Amino acid sequence: MKPNMREGHEGTGPGAITPDGCAVELYARLRVRDEPEIIAAAVPPGAHILELGCGTGRVTHALLERGFTVTAVDESAQMLERVRGARTICGPIEELDLDETFDVVMLASFLVHTGDPEVRRALLRACARHVAKDGQVLIQREGEDWHTNVPRERVDPAGYTVRIVSSEPVGQGVNAVHAEYVFPDAIWTQTFRSRPLTKEEFEAALAEEGLAVDEYLTEDRVWVRVVREEAARTQTP
Ligand SMILES: C[S@@+](CC[C@H](N)C(=O)[O-])C[C@H]1O[C@@H](n2cnc3c(N)ncnc32)[C@H](O)[C@@H]1O
Repeated sequence: MKPNMREGHEGTGPGAITPDGCAVELYARLRVRDEPEIIAAAVPPGAHILELGCGTGRVTHALLERGFTVTAVDESAQMLERVRGARTICGPIEELDLDETFDVVMLASFLVHTGDPEVRRALLRACARHVAKDGQVLIQREGEDWHTNVPRERVDPAGYTVRIVSSEPVGQGVNAVHAEYVFPDAIWTQTFRSRPLTKEEFEAALAEEGLAVDEYLTEDRVWVRVVREEAARTQTP
């Protein structure tokens, strides 16, 4: 049965397709890249991380190996079935209300660029709701030229190609992005909605939910450490 797809999202490929258009079987073959190093350098050792939109555990497993504890959340049960060694929670991030807080909340995979501003607010609110008073939110943003530098592709050393085929405006500041993941024996295609956000727009979206940038962690400003606004104010310069 086809799951309820998120608006503007589509996916083709073998096996289950998630509401945001990921082909679970092929997603499980994607290699982890530099994400664990960036995260480990940014947060306290051994922290308890709430990972929002964990997928098959591509990053989760590497974090567990580094001694972090992870609570992994995803709305796709088929994705979560592949996560090992972490507590898993199935459901939309927007509705997550665990009545507990975490040292680190992670919203990666560019989810903050979701097309619908109401959904974005709900995602950031979920981050704010679950981060400890002195905790951190790690966010992965899109790079600045991601919607203009198209088409582009990357051949992964593991033997697959990731191709961003197009990014076309669909109105109200939102683009429809078409991506292809080409494996020797199978292809997954995904169309998703993305709202480019300047640094200023991103920071304004954080402020709406009482969050503020602590530090841009990478030169391209893709990875960001965010804290509660009150924690940002009390920090010594
Ligand atoms: C592109 S995958 C990334 C998975 C993982 N973060 C990684 O880097 O390997 C996006 C995942 O987020 C999940 N997802 C997207 N939006 C979601 C939402 N609003 N609530 C819960 N899960 C969501 C999808 O089901 C999918 O598994």
